[in-house]
Amino acid sequence: MDRYDRYLHGPFAPVKEEVTAYDLPVTGRLPAELNGRYLRLGPNPLGVEDPVTHFWAFGAGMVHGVRIRDGRAEWYRNRWVRSAEIADALDRMERGLEPPAFLPPSPNIHVLRHAGRTLALSEAGGPPHELGYDLDTVGECPLAATREGSSANAHSKVDPRTGDLHSLAYLLGRPFAQHVVTDPAGTVTHVADLPLPGDLPFLHDFALSENFVVVFDIPLTFDMDAMRFRWNPAHQAHVGVLPRTGGQVRWLPAEPFYVSHVLNAYDDGSTITVDLIAADGPVDVADPGGISPRLDRWRIDLRTGRLEQRCVDDRPQDFPRVNDAYASRQHRYGYSAVTPVYGMQFTPSGPHHDDAFTNALVKHDLVRGTTEVHGFARDAAVGEAAFAPDPGDTQGAEDAGYLMAYVADPERGASDLVILSAQDFTGPPVARVHLPVRVPLGFHGNWIPDA
Ligand SMILES: [Fe+2]
Repeated sequence: MDRYDRYLHGPFAPVKEEVTAYDLPVTGRLPAELNGRYLRLGPNPLGVEDPVTHFWAFGAGMVHGVRIRDGRAEWYRNRWVRSAEIADALDRMERGLEPPAFLPPSPNIHVLRHAGRTLALSEAGGPPHELGYDLDTVGECPLAATREGSSANAHSKVDPRTGDLHSLAYLLGRPFAQHVVTDPAGTVTHVADLPLPGDLPFLHDFALSENFVVVFDIPLTFDMDAMRFRWNPAHQAHVGVLPRTGGQVRWLPAEPFYVSHVLNAYDDGSTITVDLIAADGPVDVADPGGISPRLDRWRIDLRTGRLEQRCVDDRPQDFPRVNDAYASRQHRYGYSAVTPVYGMQFTPSGPHHDDAFTNALVKHDLVRGTTEVHGFARDAAVGEAAFAPDPGDTQGAEDAGYLMAYVADPERGASDLVILSAQDFTGPPVARVHLPVRVPLGFHGNWIPDA
């Protein structure tokens, strides 16, 4: 199988239909206090793409959601994110006509709620699309739009103290990015230019601490001819630090590195701590099977300009999440996924070193330096798990809540929404909501409470 082709098969294989199912069967007990929707976005190609050049982040976005209320799983829905082009292509296919040969993807990376809207987010430049409660596409939403024509990027982050949304906006082909702040009402309140020292790097994620924005100028730069990000050995890597309130960006040169996602970051005014998923280069982003991403803790000393990079856990993992109430402030716990994306075995720490998972969720205790592993069946496929705080918690513990993730069960030919207790991470799931269909491996999502 071609390395790009693999994203059309197995746990990645797109689904062909939009499904609505009510009153889903549940094993275990859904916490009665949870009232809202778990939504996760990912690419779901329409089947007209060229399998030879296809790679994972191409294709129309599809959102998969489960609505939970009063201890019941009220519905499951999956819906394409209908940009004008995707809506037109779906309409043509329904009428038996040929869809266009080239389809720009609709938002397919992340879904979050801000300014009273549920938003599906794109990788670079493309405008977010608003989704209705039942996941139908309302339309384009110019969130964090700037006069340069860029919008909120996929890994925009809400500061839980201010309610502001922080975005790193950029456009393909331009060595230029912007830090954009959007207030809880949806108004852009701050835009800071961030001129890049060289070619446009893959700026998929960034770090936000209390006082700083940290960007990763990695040697994976956009090749306009190939329309792809490619490893570029001539590109000097940097870590860039920009005060949240604006001003000059400070670029610290670094050895070549790859960063996929940031778990969280915090600072004390002079030192920034960033927990992130990193790998050594060279890296082919179109072929994650060749990457061995690990969890690192990086410290940036702003007095000396020194960057300290320390590995926390070298077992291959990605899709890190934190309890978002701790976003940009000091956290203790992080959660990551060991997924078939990387095609590697992961050995849990503990007494059973022989057990290797290709599919697991990991809880990191970054104070004690320990991990707990929740492994799934060998042929299952798990992706990112989002943290859902327990609304009934009165103790204020950081890990009082649940992890939610879709887990594909090849034996059943369908997926479960698995809900784990964050405080009893290795215990049996609190609940498994049995969906009638398979959810392909995708990217990112959130638990979005109704309140
Ligand atoms: Fe991502």
